[in-house]
Amino acid sequence: MQYRFPDTFWWGSASSAPQAEGASLQGGKAPTIWDHWFAIEPHRFHQQVGPADTSTFYQHFRDDIALMAQIGHNSFRTSIAWARLLPEGRGEPNPEAVRFYHAMLDELLARGITPFINLFHFDMPMVMQEKGGWESREVVDAFAEFAATCFQLFGGKVKHWFTFNEPIVPVEGGYLYDFHYPNVVDFRRAATVAYHTMLAHAKAVQAYRSQGQDGQIGIILNLTPSYPRSQHPADLKAANIADLFFNRSFLDPAVRGEYPSELVALLREYDQLPPCEPGDRALLAAGKVDLLGVNYYQPRRVKARSNAVNPASPFMPEWFFDYYEMPGRKMNPHRGWEIYEKGIYDILTNLRDHYGNIPCFISENGMGVEGEEKFLGEDGQIQDDYRIAFVSDHLRWVHKGIGEGCQCLGYHLWTFIDNWSWSNAYKNRYGFIRLDLESGERRIKKSGEWFADVSRRGGF
Ligand code: BG6
Repeated sequence: MQYRFPDTFWWGSASSAPQAEGASLQGGKAPTIWDHWFAIEPHRFHQQVGPADTSTFYQHFRDDIALMAQIGHNSFRTSIAWARLLPEGRGEPNPEAVRFYHAMLDELLARGITPFINLFHFDMPMVMQEKGGWESREVVDAFAEFAATCFQLFGGKVKHWFTFNEPIVPVEGGYLYDFHYPNVVDFRRAATVAYHTMLAHAKAVQAYRSQGQDGQIGIILNLTPSYPRSQHPADLKAANIADLFFNRSFLDPAVRGEYPSELVALLREYDQLPPCEPGDRALLAAGKVDLLGVNYYQPRRVKARSNAVNPASPFMPEWFFDYYEMPGRKMNPHRGWEIYEKGIYDILTNLRDHYGNIPCFISENGMGVEGEEKFLGEDGQIQDDYRIAFVSDHLRWVHKGIGEGCQCLGYHLWTFIDNWSWSNAYKNRYGFIRLDLESGERRIKKSGEWFADVSRRGGF
């Protein structure tokens, strides 16, 4: 076997409560910003399909977990929905939710699948958004209480915890680029949201450690290596600033416990720093993670700006660079994203060389395909050879990184079963398992069978 991985390697996939559970207003669950936004602006969602239309994991988790075992999972990541566990946002847990999450965890453990549990996957409870969402310190405290409740309830069964999935995405979507509720476009508010998210993360980490829990706690970040168009100093500077905004703004506080001084200086120069309070610095320092989840889909390619910034325009990261399409780049023709497999290796070696070789794993990587039904074979199975190529090409680079000393402990595909993806709904299919939206029927794709084989043999 050419690419053999360690026997302890985590093979699996990732999902999230709001994208898979369904029962969005059942079982005592309160609405999130997604239920609210869909209710007021359904036209913003692909084919007007909203958060109630998922793969119904809430009802069918036992069947799904059986399928996970069938396709060789030894681990699986999902999230606990804050609005399900604490419908008021704070206070007493909802007993139905407690029963559901215990049953789900028991089922995973009974099948030999290690649960990886994340606490926030873009699903702000509406009751908390009404208090200001991540702009409010009260919400920071409420999140820490929610996290502490989860650790107390489920800490005996879950040893791999994550505070946030891709915390930059609600910042970008909700406060900069208008693809999440509350659809604000305002950098300073975005910076406050980002900062408070990291304070909430640090408080949750503190709560975990103060309970004396015996597992690991981390965060899941979508890292997009920033590549300059050329080695010209202006292009290099552009790439460095993009890296500060889009990677290091979360990576540095999570792993080093502090913000990059260059980023702080830049925001201070443009009067964009969020409000800080005494004690914040010590809190952030206490939030250093044990384990980092790395989501990698595509690189970010930038060049020096070609036009001067209009100083009257609203402050944006793009004041400092232009995006750049590298000639000859490889594209995913079914999703419009660049495929650059080496990016995953560049992330791992950067973590090894500049972030103390923090233990990490690939917590998401995957290939979205629009119109995937055109790859249905005669026997009704999706023949997704493109996904097999995508995963194996990335795994080769992961393997090389491990061989060179990177502490990458596993690989999770996004995602287990085709799932509801926010305002893209079911536009892009990512799963190892095809979901028939009409009947709810599940069918393992060719890639799922391939993955079962890779996981069982420990390589390919
Ligand atoms: C990841 C998110 O960034 O991208 C997922 O963690 C999301 O929640 C996935 O579903 C795919 O996004 P899209 O836009 O291609 O459907």
